Amino acid sequence: MIKIAVIEGDGVGPEIIRGVISILESLIEAEFVFIKAGKKYFYETGLPMEEKGIQKIKESDVLLKGPIATPVRGRTYLSINLRIRREFNLYANVRPFRSYSGISIRKLSTVIVRENTEGLYSGIEEADGEKAIASRIITKRKSEKISEYAFGLAEEEKRERVTAIHKRNILKVSDGLFLETFYEVAKKHPSIAADDAIVDAASYKLVKVDNAFDIMVTPNLYGDILSDVAAGVIGSLGLCGSAQVGDSFAAFEPIHGTAEDIAGRGIANPLGAVIASSLMLTWLGTKNSDLREKGMLVRRAVDDLIERRIALTPDLGGSSTTDDVINALFRLI
Ligand code: IPM
Ligand code: MN
Repeated sequence: MIKIAVIEGDGVGPEIIRGVISILESLIEAEFVFIKAGKKYFYETGLPMEEKGIQKIKESDVLLKGPIATPVRGRTYLSINLRIRREFNLYANVRPFRSYSGISIRKLSTVIVRENTEGLYSGIEEADGEKAIASRIITKRKSEKISEYAFGLAEEEKRERVTAIHKRNILKVSDGLFLETFYEVAKKHPSIAADDAIVDAASYKLVKVDNAFDIMVTPNLYGDILSDVAAGVIGSLGLCGSAQVGDSFAAFEPIHGTAEDIAGRGIANPLGAVIASSLMLTWLGTKNSDLREKGMLVRRAVDDLIERRIALTPDLGGSSTTDDVINALFRLI
């Protein structure tokens, strides 16, 4: 039986993750292993994650998680998100974006493949009171791995083009290495077109032009920012899920934050988390085609629900509750 580690997370996390679990329970045989972690847990116990948390995740096949907050003031700790990315070497953060008529400001079907473990997220900072320095690590190896992932995905999804996002005009050495490595990898995939775009211009184009990009492959911070831009273009952060993938493990989550302002009111949009769960089934499905099929089923139900406006939460201009959306999905799956 599949073992799914679950971190419900902070804010709206528990209410949306519970809905997702009920959908998964209706589709597959799985054991859910709950792990306590996050800001609320930290304030209650002084620990960011229960002691055996990482061990429990290691003993599971995948991790499904809600958004987790990190305190920015006072006593704090290394973000659980970063800890998990590093611990499991989840080097690819994969975020598909698809537009919906009447909801999105542009037509779009793009996947952002973001390097997830280095760049400006390396966590190497120093300051002496007068000057603060952050080190931005770009390695050949990780640039190679993320580029390989992007071209592999293009082949699998029969997409045409992979665009590398960079700021090489300024960061000549580090983004230079990223881009050079990208084009080396591109040569091994001659059936997929390869090009590149500067990050600021790419952001503008994403908002201004229909179908501006196919697959985008990015260093860590550019991918973080561009994925929120893409979410804005398709209409809501609540409509986006992500897969964080390593060589032997993966974690799945909605890309939105904890949305404390609406937490506990039962109106959070669960679709980002539902999309994350469909990505999870697809990933598990590389070894089991039945699961792959179920992943597609969930995604189709989500698309259908949005296109036909069957149950939309307030972030999409509707008045449905989280449970209304989950119940509508049950009927569509
Ligand atoms: C994301 C989030 C995270 C990031 C935070 C919560 C660490 O914004 O997954 O996009 O910056 O990577
Ligand atoms: Mn982000």
